[in-house]
Amino acid sequence: MMKPIFFGVVALMFAVVVMQPEQVSMQAADGATATDSEKWNYMHKTCSSKLHDQINMEFGASLFYLQYAAYFAQYKVNLPGFEKFFFNAASEEREHGIKLIEYALMRGVTPISDSFNLAANYAFEGEPAAVNGSVALAALGKALAKEQEVTKSIRELIKICEGDLNDYHLVDYLTGEFLEEQHQGQRELAGKISMLNKMLVTNPELGEYIFDQQNM
Ligand SMILES: *[C@@H]1O[C@H](CO)[C@@H](O)[C@H](O)[C@H]1NC(C)=O
Ligand SMILES: [Fe+2]
Repeated sequence: MMKPIFFGVVALMFAVVVMQPEQVSMQAADGATATDSEKWNYMHKTCSSKLHDQINMEFGASLFYLQYAAYFAQYKVNLPGFEKFFFNAASEEREHGIKLIEYALMRGVTPISDSFNLAANYAFEGEPAAVNGSVALAALGKALAKEQEVTKSIRELIKICEGDLNDYHLVDYLTGEFLEEQHQGQRELAGKISMLNKMLVTNPELGEYIFDQQNM
């Protein structure tokens, strides 16, 4: 007779201790800021608006690479390896943007708003000036800088959405999929820059040609 009562009391105490902080933080999150997502899949406004920025940045990066692909495809430049590399990079960035739009939709976040203009962050940057006698080397340098910028932005997004906002599902997705690809991509570009530099020393034009054939 005492046993069920005892367990009942223990269970009740457990429930009070465990559930209280959660209820408190839920209340705080709901009261703190209006959300632009549905209550059935809560996402804090600060986090979702930074997610919008990230989506814009991915499409901006896609256009940035498309511009380089078109540059290297011109008959006067004609480096087909670089052309292919940058067309692929543009497609990948577009896919990243679409993946994040799909994520936002899954979370009930409105994918379109006044501040969500897919071309907002894009400005034509023109062809890069040659570095060490090579526009190809300059383009790889610009691409690495772009990837570093994107990585920094993803890390900021993670910082905003973790902690008090407690959006570890998004954080896990970003850390596991997006950051992994960023780090791989940056390493690949750094390696290419290092090798092309070596090949530019004696004959920049021949070095660039061989590099384009063999390494892009
Ligand atoms: C240009 O070449 C020099 C000498 O090889 C090298 O130290 C430098 O890093 C190169 N510049 C870039 C942007 O790679
Ligand atoms: Fe990306």
